[in-house]
Amino acid sequence: MSKDFKRYLITSALPYANGPVHIGHLAGVYIPSDIYTRYLRLRGRDVISVCGSDEHGVPITIKAKKEGITPQQVVDRYHAIIKDSFEKLGISFDIYSRTSSPVHAETASAFFRKLYDEGKFVEQTSEQFYDEEAKSFLADRYIVGTCPKCGAEGAYGDQCEVCGSTLSPDELVNPRSTLSGATPIKRETKHWYLPLDKYEQMLREWILEGHKEWKSNVYGQCKSWLDGGLMPRAVSRDLDWGIPVPVEGAEGKVLYVWFDAPIGYISATKELTPDWEKYWKSEDTKLVHFIGKDNIVFHCIVFPSMLKAHGEYILPENVPSNEFLNLEGNKISTSKNWAVWLHEYLVDFPGKEDVLRYALCATAPETKDNDFTWKDYQARNNNELVAVLGNFVNRALVLTKKYYDGEVPTCGELADYDRDTIAELSSIKASLESNIENYRFREALKDAMNFARIGNKYLADSEPWKLIKTDAERVKTILNIALQITANIAIAIEPFMPFSAAKILNMLACEKFGWERLGAMDLLAAGHHIGEPSLLFEKIEDDVIQKQLDRLAEIAKQNKAAEVKAEPQKAECSFDDFQKMDIRVSTILEAEKLPKTKKLLKLTIDTGIDKRTIVSGIAEHFSPEELVGKQVLVLVNLAPRDFKGITSQGMILMAEDATGALRLLQPNEKTNNGAMVG
Ligand code: MF3
Ligand code: ZN
Repeated sequence: MSKDFKRYLITSALPYANGPVHIGHLAGVYIPSDIYTRYLRLRGRDVISVCGSDEHGVPITIKAKKEGITPQQVVDRYHAIIKDSFEKLGISFDIYSRTSSPVHAETASAFFRKLYDEGKFVEQTSEQFYDEEAKSFLADRYIVGTCPKCGAEGAYGDQCEVCGSTLSPDELVNPRSTLSGATPIKRETKHWYLPLDKYEQMLREWILEGHKEWKSNVYGQCKSWLDGGLMPRAVSRDLDWGIPVPVEGAEGKVLYVWFDAPIGYISATKELTPDWEKYWKSEDTKLVHFIGKDNIVFHCIVFPSMLKAHGEYILPENVPSNEFLNLEGNKISTSKNWAVWLHEYLVDFPGKEDVLRYALCATAPETKDNDFTWKDYQARNNNELVAVLGNFVNRALVLTKKYYDGEVPTCGELADYDRDTIAELSSIKASLESNIENYRFREALKDAMNFARIGNKYLADSEPWKLIKTDAERVKTILNIALQITANIAIAIEPFMPFSAAKILNMLACEKFGWERLGAMDLLAAGHHIGEPSLLFEKIEDDVIQKQLDRLAEIAKQNKAAEVKAEPQKAECSFDDFQKMDIRVSTILEAEKLPKTKKLLKLTIDTGIDKRTIVSGIAEHFSPEELVGKQVLVLVNLAPRDFKGITSQGMILMAEDATGALRLLQPNEKTNNGAMVG
């Protein structure tokens, strides 16, 4: 039995302010939560949607160190970018706050303090890695060394990025602190732990018995955590960036980021409204956390245990979590820049906010990982938004302009086909509602698009443009119905594509209708004057998509180059061996392609000793024009060799880049030809 709730509190995972937001975040969390929230608002429910930036944690301090700025500067930069880009995409949070806000520090401190005072924590001393030179405890990420699994250098204390193994700092061979380079030692330190084992029974009953309706990926993860047995978890860290642990004798210790961040939902609600308590402390509130799958344990096990330990707060009614979205077949990665960044999309595709919302909702990884491709994005725009939705709305409006000067015609007697169409339309509402309420947003989007599909078919079948010559009365009815369908579309698509919904209303010269009117066939009165039709969506051409693909190809190339390991060193050579090689600075005087060859260039060079010919297999890498005039290094005493009847007297020195590109080696300033290298 689903309970009737008086109000809704929607939270969306707080994005880390150590980078911008990408399409994976959007498809996984923010677009679903916005659809859900907008829908509830349209239905007139008491709903608030809260979010904000997650501004603590080790990655932010590392980024700051790398860039030589403060952690506050890092989060200020990304908080601004994220907030602005969410707004532009129409993600309609009631508040977008941040965990560096004073209200949050106060709320999280008080939360910790209450649990501390009531003896809900366990104090434990453990040995942690410590840098004696920097006088600082070291988070796992601050320790690097050789990977015990693959031998790669520079593996982190928690993970090797080369082989992907999860590590602990103890396993690293030759561990070093990234702060000072010193070898870390172990030192005792005291921390506070939340004994999750004490909440196991409560969690079992609440989730495994009480919430069998949760998505199977969420339920399954919870079950396996619970079956594995829960252990106390540290809620503090030795770090100088975060909310100080508010007890005596805790100098240099801050709240663990996963302790403070979810409390950010509460702080944001407090900042939003003085009435915040009714959202957090009343069983009449339906609390829903939208998250990605890597956040499940924190939102279903840890945060609920914190809330229970505190005692005054409600638990979430559902935790809809999506799987991951890949990009062009590969895992999205912030560090590898393998992503489509929202703030860049908004610049590259102005006015196409709804296209991204649509494409991401349609490919959202609701039940399994899914792949975003630019071709699919283009196809969804061209074949669905332009060809179905845009086309239908445009035809209905343009024909009304043409035949009736923009006045809604009267609906006459209905034909059977009209009745069938109307019946089909009226069945969509229930399905659309049930799909949204059960977090099946892809299906819900199909329902909404069905209004346009049915409308398109209705016009194509009834052909008013032909009938106008033979049965003008009938055309009035057809266009009246087409316009009513258009008005219905403006209601149905609003949670998904709010900008386009507003555009349709504008073209119809109407105010919002209200969700309860969805399915009605009298939304527009006969005689009402519609506004000016314009195109809802534009076709996206191949070259636009190609540009995005080229950008990704360039990134893939760079990533590949960064991964490449240098060839092992060759066997030792003596100084005498080296001295035998006569390498001179030379200038290329002429260059031409050798006829009937693909790779060979014939070069005339000035070695300072003489002018001579060298044949070089570089025609696929350099054009003759770009070589002429360049200074290069030439091994001049290499035994001559014949190529296609031409004798080559020497070799130009070059390096092959990991991408396969050839680079000339040149003196860093102009040098006289014949200068010796050695
Ligand atoms: N910043 C986390 C992430 O991006 C999510 C934090 S959600 C919160 O994975 F509940 F802790 F706020
Ligand atoms: Zn490794």
